[in-house]
Amino acid sequence: MTEAPYVLRTEDLQKSFRTGEVTVHALRGISMEVQRGEFLGIIGPSGSGKSTLLGLIGGLDTPTAGRVLIDGADITRLSERALTRIRNEKIGFVFQSFNLIPTLTALENVALPVQFSHRREFTPRQRARDILEALGLGDRLHHRPSQLSGGQQQRVAIARALANNPPLLLADEPTGNLDTAASAVVLDALRDVQRLTGTTIVVVTHDMGVASQVDRLITLVDGEIASQANDRIAAQRAAVSWLKDKRATGELKALTPEQIEQAQAVRQSDALLAEARAILERLPGDPAARAWLAQLGGGAPATDDQGGLS
Ligand SMILES: Nc1ncnc2c1ncn2[C@@H]1O[C@H](COP(=O)(O)OP(=O)(O)OP(=O)(O)O)[C@@H](O)[C@H]1O
Ligand SMILES: [Mg+2]
Repeated sequence: MTEAPYVLRTEDLQKSFRTGEVTVHALRGISMEVQRGEFLGIIGPSGSGKSTLLGLIGGLDTPTAGRVLIDGADITRLSERALTRIRNEKIGFVFQSFNLIPTLTALENVALPVQFSHRREFTPRQRARDILEALGLGDRLHHRPSQLSGGQQQRVAIARALANNPPLLLADEPTGNLDTAASAVVLDALRDVQRLTGTTIVVVTHDMGVASQVDRLITLVDGEIASQANDRIAAQRAAVSWLKDKRATGELKALTPEQIEQAQAVRQSDALLAEARAILERLPGDPAARAWLAQLGGGAPATDDQGGLS
């Protein structure tokens, strides 16, 4: 059997949620393909549909319309039983909150999905040991989650997601609960996984450190793909949308409409990069702002980690 060039394909994917009288159109027709071995990033403002999209791709929820194809198979028409099997063998999940089982050790957490799989090529505990060692956790096999740091727990979660050697790894804000140093370690782990095993990775992120490392970046706005690019302009545009987001939620009261305009104009003029930098530098305690700054090429400012707007 020849393999399709893409691991994942969505066709006009739509999802609406009805709550009482209100219908929210979370996804308004997403069509995309992800190549085998690709590292795809998805960014976008809060509420733009990122988690909804990931949930549909992973078969955690069913679309209102459209299809999801994993390895050529339409997963939107499967029985719950068949879907459970696909989820266990073809898709690895990593969540912001790690979702490890607290009473099990790292080794047991990772061995669990192998025990549930129909595959016989892996011995659960040996497989778990191998992956944990590859992710630098060989000396933490018998620790429970509460005895591990956040970065270590997330690496255990990545190991668990990879336990059955799935072609596709989905991660929803995997560094969202981690500080900058731990985020970097987790990001390195994801990149190593992609490089060494050829696993296709789709990661939803607000973390510019992550977004700047992917092969391709998709920006979701209001349930639609607003842009697809892998260049600096896309990163700058995303920085602006992130700034606007902060302002909309009231986290960044000091930003004037003029400053937003200036930040937006970064797209047209390199000279205005300085303006964007000046805006971001007013958020010295925000790791995302620091990452954006680094991405914009100005280097991160000196920080005090508790600082807010200055
Ligand atoms: N189960 C649900 N019932 C009703 N509405 C929902 C449900 N899940 C998501 N939504 C709505 O769908 C939209 C998209 O939500 P989603 O969680 O996908 O956003 P997101 O891009 O992941 O945001 P964030 O960055 O905050 O995680 C939001 O308006 C949200 O309120
Ligand atoms: Mg989300």
